[in-house]
Amino acid sequence: MTVDINAANKTLAGLRPFPVAITTVDGGFANGLMSLSAGSASIIPEAPRAMCGLTKYNMTHDMVLNSGVFVMHMLSAGDDEVDASMEILMTLGGSSGRDGDKIGKLRTKTGETGAPILLDAHSYVECRVVGSLDVQESTIFVGDVVASEVFSEAQRIKIGEAWGKLPEDWIEQYDANHVPQLQSAKDHRFGQKV
Ligand SMILES: Cc1cc2nc3c(=O)[nH]c(=O)nc-3n(C[C@H](O)[C@H](O)[C@H](O)COP(=O)(O)O)c2cc1C
Repeated sequence: MTVDINAANKTLAGLRPFPVAITTVDGGFANGLMSLSAGSASIIPEAPRAMCGLTKYNMTHDMVLNSGVFVMHMLSAGDDEVDASMEILMTLGGSSGRDGDKIGKLRTKTGETGAPILLDAHSYVECRVVGSLDVQESTIFVGDVVASEVFSEAQRIKIGEAWGKLPEDWIEQYDANHVPQLQSAKDHRFGQKV
């Protein structure tokens, strides 16, 4: 049976509306990215777990694979907080740690795993990886929550609202960065790249 690509993409679109900021540290270097693949991964309330899918093209992917730690932050939609949320989104999602330090531009404290906690986030869970699944172009990481805080009383920002606030030139830059990322994913999936 031939797959109806439009139906599949329509079915899958928008399943995860909250953008999250993922940070980590490896070999003394702190880094992070934005992700739309985050979720909860435990049915045991007293033993929470988080999951996210990171693309192999991204530096953060290799760092989490190596260090086994990540922090997943939600961003705030609150009137007084949304500018800081956009700053985090644009800083972590707009360029690679390969091109220079991103975390140093944000307000942070050090978490108990050594990974940076973003102080202008809405809330976070800090995790130690308990398992990962290699799916060609990306890896799905699942982590035990080892620390967590909620900083804000406001709603968490959704990607639709955040996207509407992004400047044109940032979106252009993001789109340009996305081209080699997509090609890398295709190489991993359809080529023999490992
Ligand atoms: C809204 C948004 C969602 C994203 N979702 C993901 C994702 O789920 N997984 C991923 O690996 N990259 C995702 N990205 C792309 C990375 O954030 C981006 O490529 C980043 O610059 C990688 O930085 P790094 O090389 O320092 O890790 C997303 C970016 C944005 C702006």
